[in-house]
Amino acid sequence: MTDLDQLKADLLAAIDASSGLDALDAVRVQALGKQGAVTGLLKTLGQMSPEARQETGPRIHGLREAVTDAIAARKASLEGSALEAKLASETIDLTLPADAVPAGSVHPISQVMDELAEIFADLGFAVATGPEIEDDWHNFTALNIPETHPARAMHDTFYLAGEHEQPMVLRTHTSPVQIRTMTSTPPPIRIIAPGRVYRSDSDATHTPMFHQIEGLVIDKGLTLGHLKWTLETFLKAYFERDDIVLRLRPSYFPFTEPSVEVDVGYTLIKGKRVIGGGGDTATGGWMEVLGSGMVHRKVIEACGLDPNEWQGFAFGTGVDRLAMLKYGMDDLRAFFDGDLRWLKHYGFSALDVPTLSGGVGA
Ligand code: PHE
Repeated sequence: MTDLDQLKADLLAAIDASSGLDALDAVRVQALGKQGAVTGLLKTLGQMSPEARQETGPRIHGLREAVTDAIAARKASLEGSALEAKLASETIDLTLPADAVPAGSVHPISQVMDELAEIFADLGFAVATGPEIEDDWHNFTALNIPETHPARAMHDTFYLAGEHEQPMVLRTHTSPVQIRTMTSTPPPIRIIAPGRVYRSDSDATHTPMFHQIEGLVIDKGLTLGHLKWTLETFLKAYFERDDIVLRLRPSYFPFTEPSVEVDVGYTLIKGKRVIGGGGDTATGGWMEVLGSGMVHRKVIEACGLDPNEWQGFAFGTGVDRLAMLKYGMDDLRAFFDGDLRWLKHYGFSALDVPTLSGGVGA
């Protein structure tokens, strides 16, 4: 029986001495594996006389238990120190310079919207928002687009299914934010409203969802002159050029009267249209950039204001289009591809932050 005690002492010593998990496992196999010493002893129980088994059995089982417990304890302690060593060796110095920079960037549309908000904030405009799921009254009726109006068909509207008090639509333009602002805020009003709009249309220059920015100013004694100055100041800041030339063309929108389409002059440089100068010159031409006009009396009335007291002007344009003009992009659909090569090609970096002084192109 001293053999058993000796074996126990040897195994416990080996377990204690094992310096790593591999060494410990070797001891486990040596003791408890198929050919292990303890397993071998357990096998002898079958051949013993009942009396011998009664005496030796508990000792052998006790040995197995002691060895199993010692291995578990040693394993826990080895794992604990392995973790500690790993943690100690894997410290991170957050003050070191980065060895990899993020690959994506703020989306060009978001950057342009931020830049527009900055430019208009400088002119005293607040940013207003409205819902993308809009009711018929805000999207059409209050904007002087009655049910029978052909402009409704022009907008390729997405209508929502289901029973509602009035038809619900995905807003087809940001102009309903004009209505929401005039019905909730007493004039004078100076707001811009950038956001998503939806029309059932899709090709290289149209996507079913796109972005517009709306502008609305309501005050006393406003004229087309105020509108023109505001747009000129905005476009100079946005395109970062002083030689911006505007042409106002008579147009038609149900919610403005008179309505003007705004063209900006471009110059042909190496076959490319560059905004600035141009217009009616040998190397120039005009590009349409905005719809605008004086807010229609009926719209002011629909919002509960007296059109004899309050006048104003409004404008609206596509943010995607403004981005394309500034950065020379030619396919609107690329905005939605999430292609990093495209972002890089147009010079957008992950850390670009639009600022009024720098512009996103600087
Ligand atoms: N809402 C018009 C459109 O989507 C643009 C516009 C806005 C025109 C404001 C005039 C005034 O085409």
